[in-house]
Amino acid sequence: MKQYLTTPIYYASGSPHLGHAYTTFVADCYKRYCKLRGDDVLLTSGTDEHGQKIERTAEQAEESTLSFVDSRSDEFLNLWKNLDIDLDRFERTTSPTHKELVIGLWQQIGARGDIYKGHYEGLYCVGCEQYFTAGDRCPVHRKPLEKFSEESYFFRLSAYQQRLIDHIESNPEFIVPGSRRNEVLSFLKNGELHDLSISRTSTSWGIGVPDDPGHVIYVWLDALAAYLSALGGLEGEKLKNYWPNSIHFIGKDILIFHAVYWPAILWSAGLALPKQIVVNGWLTVEGQKISKSDPETIVDPLSLSDLVGRDGLKYYFLKSVSLGQDLDFKRSHLIDLLNADLANNLGNLFSRYIKLFLKHFPRGLRYSTGNITVVNKNLLQSIRDNTNRFTAAFEKFDLSLAARLFIETAALLNADIQQREPWKIADRDELAQYLWTLHHCLAELTILGASFVPELTARARVALKIEAEPAWTELGHRQQCVSVQSIEPLFPRIQSRWPRG
Ligand code: MSP
Repeated sequence: MKQYLTTPIYYASGSPHLGHAYTTFVADCYKRYCKLRGDDVLLTSGTDEHGQKIERTAEQAEESTLSFVDSRSDEFLNLWKNLDIDLDRFERTTSPTHKELVIGLWQQIGARGDIYKGHYEGLYCVGCEQYFTAGDRCPVHRKPLEKFSEESYFFRLSAYQQRLIDHIESNPEFIVPGSRRNEVLSFLKNGELHDLSISRTSTSWGIGVPDDPGHVIYVWLDALAAYLSALGGLEGEKLKNYWPNSIHFIGKDILIFHAVYWPAILWSAGLALPKQIVVNGWLTVEGQKISKSDPETIVDPLSLSDLVGRDGLKYYFLKSVSLGQDLDFKRSHLIDLLNADLANNLGNLFSRYIKLFLKHFPRGLRYSTGNITVVNKNLLQSIRDNTNRFTAAFEKFDLSLAARLFIETAALLNADIQQREPWKIADRDELAQYLWTLHHCLAELTILGASFVPELTARARVALKIEAEPAWTELGHRQQCVSVQSIEPLFPRIQSRWPRG
């Protein structure tokens, strides 16, 4: 199956922070799961580089806008490389191919009769690059809204109100989780949808409106279109093959753009809608959203990953945040959880197993499935049951539950070893049978862990002397000869609570 996954195209107005990393971890984890299942899956991220907010930030930094966005964009790209995010494409909205696509999209919408020229008068938050109809402060940035009055092109969003309601109601999985879907539905049902201002004259940093050089295209229309550019353009084969099966992973702050404006724009342009929008909550620090505009909340993902490893970082957030919920970040919780789950539980499981195996069967052992006892069959079956629950969790995008099932499976194996005390088994055949069974259980455990802690599970597979790249098709596949080799501890305990100084 062909699948297309996207993270938001992050603003190149500042350096990446933990909030950006979190959404990216969710998308990366889901991609790894799809790959494991054998899907042909592409993941796109990128940077949103136009608009007034960026123009102003570059001005304040006394840099040319282009060199400013070049370096911010590099920071994002390098972060994803350093955190081992499995990206296929990194789209920049300043690229010439993207510009061409946005102009093409504008023309398609125009040809449909959905664009007209008018005058915009109202409120705007430059931080969100969003229009407001009421209030005097932006609810996200907590800054005064600015009054704008300018000539503008409009998109006939109002014409799509009922169609949007119908689509969301007849596709209950279009917006996940359900609480976010309800939020969009009540937004659509409780008020009149106004046409959307889609050009600006007060900034020149953007893509020019075709044949009207005084206007630049609204930054959100420009940014959303990056999802299409990353597939190689409006006429490309990739768009045909991957787009209908696409999933946008986003934060709750940008829900209306994705669930209301974007579908209407796509319909107008004669394009299919993405299959799903998966919405995450916010990471907060002391209750405040981690955000560039609130420097005290900023946590640098790279320095955290230096301390706890990139697998540790991914695992912690994926397990701790239930989909759609907020999480107040605490370093002590991060370290305690990783020490408990990855060092004590997972790490000890592998090290005690490998030690035991090498002591008794340094050159490997051979056993055949037909001869194993009910106790061992049951152990294999209980892993299989967890695997089935794991799949169901992923299908509901409940990554936190899936991570818990992975680590509970490790705990189950530790408990089994503790109870059966293999170091006391005198019968060599009985011991060989148990270690053979455990070998298969551990191999299956690495499959469950591969989407969350890919590097740890790859090393665990080296210890089990099995193919480094895990695949779902391995499940239930039993080999007669198994062996192991020793490796460095999988996840050494993190000693410091936090580096001093
Ligand atoms: N450029 C737009 C998105 C355009 S997509 C076509 C934008 N960029 S952003 O840099 O502000 O990033 C927003 C996204 O980053 C959020 O939707 C969310 O996915 C992620 N997060 C930013 N801060 C976050 C938290 N504090 N917590 C969780 N996710 C956060 O909006």
